Amino acid sequence: MHLPDSERTRATMVTLRRYVPADYVSTAEIFLRAIREVASRDYTPAQIDAWAKIDDLQAWAERRSSRPTWIAVADGLPIGFADLEPDGHLDMMFVHPDHQGIGAASSLLLEIEAEARNLGLTRIFTEASLTARPFFERRGFIVLMRQSVEKRGQALTNFRMEKLLPQAGQHYCHLPVATRIRLKTPR
Ligand SMILES: CC(C)(COP(=O)(O)OP(=O)(O)OC[C@H]1O[C@@H](n2cnc3c(N)ncnc32)[C@H](O)[C@@H]1OP(=O)(O)O)[C@@H](O)C(=O)NCCC(=O)NCCS
Repeated sequence: MHLPDSERTRATMVTLRRYVPADYVSTAEIFLRAIREVASRDYTPAQIDAWAKIDDLQAWAERRSSRPTWIAVADGLPIGFADLEPDGHLDMMFVHPDHQGIGAASSLLLEIEAEARNLGLTRIFTEASLTARPFFERRGFIVLMRQSVEKRGQALTNFRMEKLLPQAGQHYCHLPVATRIRLKTPR
């Protein structure tokens, strides 16, 4: 695969592997710390308190194991994770605060896109936080709508976003959703 030099340099620092059940502890810690220490710059303390909670660790473990999930690893330790549900929904994308900006999320997303294409999916969609929106935009997602979601009594803004994944021989044109068309590759 051809990667720009900046991506290749960063990619050497991060490796990926599939989630194993014992990862429930590190994914929980990454989730909580990424919200408390990174997303906290974009949400109020009350919103962060409401979001950064895991009520049932057993249920958390079951959810993580229930769909393809990848772990980003640096120096042998999990530093991020992301998942892909069968319909193309990317539910989780979190990177440890001590390892921001080294390409972990980008590596995870590349893997998820490859898996989605293997599954024959034509799009990935997510609900991106205010914090994650610029990341997803840089990686080709567009905002479908801004929305307000309720978490433990707090209203949090996020963005429904999607990225189209043209299969070989197809190009997608990002037009308003109602007028989206599929273009054939010119011969
Ligand atoms: C959003 C998040 C997953 C990005 O992880 P990351 O590993 O630091 O991202 P990368 O290093 O792969 O960065 C990829 C690109 O996005 C950009 N980027 C990442 N976060 C950004 C931000 N908040 N603002 C602007 N650009 C950002 C980087 O500059 C980089 O751009 P470039 O390669 O074109 O120079 C991480 O910041 C995070 O965990 N945030 C808190 C939790 C959260 O909100 N998760 C999403 C829930 S929907």
